[in-house]
Amino acid sequence: MNATILLNNEKHYPVLLDEILSIISPQNGGTFIDCTLGQGGYSNAILTFNETNVIAIDRDPDIKIIAQKIKSQNKNRFSFFNKKFSEIDKIQTNNFDVKAVIFDLGYSYNQIKDPKKGLSFESKGKLNMKLGLNSFSADEVINKLDQKDLELIFKYFGEEKDSKVISKKIVEHRLRSNLDTEKLVNIINSVKKKRGRTHNATKIFQAIRIFVNKEISELVYGLINSTRILDIDGIILAVSFHSLEDRIIKYFLKSLSEDKKISRYFPEEENHNKMFELVSKKPIFPSQKEISINKPSRSAKLRYAIKKKNVINFEKDILKKFSKLLEIENLSSKLWKILLLLFA
Ligand SMILES: C[S@@+](CC[C@H](N)C(=O)[O-])C[C@H]1O[C@@H](n2cnc3c(N)ncnc32)[C@H](O)[C@@H]1O
Repeated sequence: MNATILLNNEKHYPVLLDEILSIISPQNGGTFIDCTLGQGGYSNAILTFNETNVIAIDRDPDIKIIAQKIKSQNKNRFSFFNKKFSEIDKIQTNNFDVKAVIFDLGYSYNQIKDPKKGLSFESKGKLNMKLGLNSFSADEVINKLDQKDLELIFKYFGEEKDSKVISKKIVEHRLRSNLDTEKLVNIINSVKKKRGRTHNATKIFQAIRIFVNKEISELVYGLINSTRILDIDGIILAVSFHSLEDRIIKYFLKSLSEDKKISRYFPEEENHNKMFELVSKKPIFPSQKEISINKPSRSAKLRYAIKKKNVINFEKDILKKFSKLLEIENLSSKLWKILLLLFA
């Protein structure tokens, strides 16, 4: 997993920023929703254009400090909500016409380096991985969930081929004592033979992080709900860093941009419902120049589509398509029951 923002000589590099600005045209003004404020790279860039307003969201409460700084420089043109972007349809847009909704998924370098968040393999102590506004942590997932459930999480969210052995070892080891980050990494290293430059624990850590932060439902509902608040001709843009996220974004934008029959009872000429226009089926990748400055940007993919009609009856198809992944995320309700019994 890669972060979109890297600190290199104390400078931030928002991924694919030039490409995003050229798609959303902030020079023409308008209201933009930055669903993942992070270090403020996109919001600050949009606000350099005088006629713009930015509404920003981030689930991490630590980002409030960044939001306060942007607010102090842009007073009435900037507002921030410490919320999850799946709730985008519940935020106050002050009846502005929303020209674009932007998602830059994942987490930033500052978050990986924050020892209390425990996102890195090098973190010490108790497992965590909560980005903010969570119901449970990685500690509870790894030390409480059944072997079978852990295996499913690793297999589907990490696409880890050694899911079965790793989950078995976890359950064996935790009988002796609770697992922390270091112990978990040691278990993974004992199963996997070191190959290539990618850390052995990458896939398992990705899987746990997705589960702890409910990243699948966040993305699915974030996309679904953003279609409702966008103005006609408004744009949804999403930058992703791994294949699972990209698969969801690709399917979602393609599905909305297909010519679907509204009803078999409608006359043919009125029976079309192409709600979005997909400008290109292919994603946009960072340039070689950007990759040379910010290496982790190499795995970024940007997709976007333009709203052409008000959206109706499209969620079912998306929810069905990703039902298996959503079902696995809902194993968290099992975790809740275990925790309630433990504390009863
Ligand atoms: C990669 S960073 C964004 C960087 C930002 N584009 C910039 O230029 O500085 C991703 C941010 O999204 C936030 N985030 C991740 N999932 C979220 C969610 N479901 N709802 C709201 N914020 C989320 C993270 O806390 C993190 O700050």
